[in-house]
Amino acid sequence: MMTADEITALRSKHYNATVVSLRTTNPDLMVVRVKPDVGVPPHKAGQYSTLGMGQWEGRAPNCQEETPKPGEEKKLIRRAYSISCSILDERGELFDQANSDSLEFYIVLVRQSDGQAPALTPRLFLLEEGSRVFLGEKIAGHYNLEPVKPTDNVIFLSTGTGEAPHNYMTWELLRRGHQGKILSACCVRYRQDLGYLPTHETLMSRHANYTYLSLTTREAVNTGHKVYIQDLITSGQLEERLGDTLDAERTHVYLCGNPKMIGVPTVERATGNVIYPETLGVVEILERRGFRIDQPALKKKGTIHFEEYW
Ligand SMILES: Cc1cc2nc3c(=O)[nH]c(=O)nc-3n(C[C@H](O)[C@H](O)[C@H](O)COP(=O)(O)OP(=O)(O)OC[C@H]3O[C@@H](n4cnc5c(N)ncnc54)[C@H](O)[C@@H]3O)c2cc1C
Ligand SMILES: NC(=O)c1ccc[n+]([C@@H]2O[C@H](COP(=O)([O-])OP(=O)(O)OC[C@H]3O[C@@H](n4cnc5c(N)ncnc54)[C@H](OP(=O)(O)O)[C@@H]3O)[C@@H](O)[C@H]2O)c1
Repeated sequence: MMTADEITALRSKHYNATVVSLRTTNPDLMVVRVKPDVGVPPHKAGQYSTLGMGQWEGRAPNCQEETPKPGEEKKLIRRAYSISCSILDERGELFDQANSDSLEFYIVLVRQSDGQAPALTPRLFLLEEGSRVFLGEKIAGHYNLEPVKPTDNVIFLSTGTGEAPHNYMTWELLRRGHQGKILSACCVRYRQDLGYLPTHETLMSRHANYTYLSLTTREAVNTGHKVYIQDLITSGQLEERLGDTLDAERTHVYLCGNPKMIGVPTVERATGNVIYPETLGVVEILERRGFRIDQPALKKKGTIHFEEYW
């Protein structure tokens, strides 16, 4: 058992940022803004940072029990988080993100996991305004708008909190006065898991080139009628709502969240054969239609971009 003084010392050694605002859109979902002590590092919309809290911190109730490992009591637990954006401010104007001294994160509480007990989110859900926390000094990631031309169509497809980087990229596109169409779709279990829904509705009423589609899978109306992101594409509904065809040359598709929705294939070393996951994902559907994955590290260009959350 650590003393209060030991905990204070560990916090002041490791924590370098302050929670400046926190909104829980439901008990398991939060939008939190964190202000780093040394200023916001340079970054692009779509990228991610890391948040961290000490193993010594308490955990939210009704989460899977953790079996503490001896010697790890003073460990800092870190996880990657995409930077999100509220897009609009309280007055309904485009948020002044460029001059903001804080970063926004959109986080779901993982209460239970198949493997080890979730380590960080049960702790993050005890944060309050004014709490101290660790924020990574660098912001990284290839998931950004660099390859998008002003007239390209941009499609953001996500599950759950996977819409976080899409919100920031949407803000960036609106700020730039993007001329192509922008469609953002998010699939969640329940309607209450759509943490930014009112903002998207406002944006749709203001920007003729912006469409937001939400899908739920576990509401009563979904009994026997579950529509996944993949079904949006195969049914033709996505193109219908976009008001355009999915042309790989002028459409960038961004995929973020549950890896099963994304469905990244592996390439067999010996044969070079592409092997798609058993569950049909968006990548396979789009590759059949002439899209290719963008692989900056391999210098292979494409218009499918993805960020897997686990
Ligand atoms: C690049 C990147 C960006 C990320 N951005 C975000 C973000 O913006 N918001 C966010 O909530 N999470 C995000 N994550 C996931 C995050 O890093 C943590 O894994 C997550 O918050 C759970 O942490 P944990 O320690 O409680 O549990 P962990 O031990 O890390 O995860 C336990 C299990 O929870 C499930 N899980 C993890 N993350 C999610 C999620 N977001 N939604 C649904 N199930 C999940 C998976 O099954 C995972 O195996 C991101 C991950 C990566 C790699
Ligand atoms: N209210 C709550 O209690 C609550 C709410 C949300 C999350 N959580 C917790 O948060 C964690 C993460 O949940 P999450 O809902 O954010 O993320 P998630 O489990 O990844 O689910 C997000 C959405 O993706 C869908 N999905 C699942 N498999 C898919 C596939 N193969 N292809 C396409 N879509 C697929 C889900 O539908 P399905 O319905 O088919 O899974 C759901 O609509 C969980 O551990 C949970 O405990 C709790």
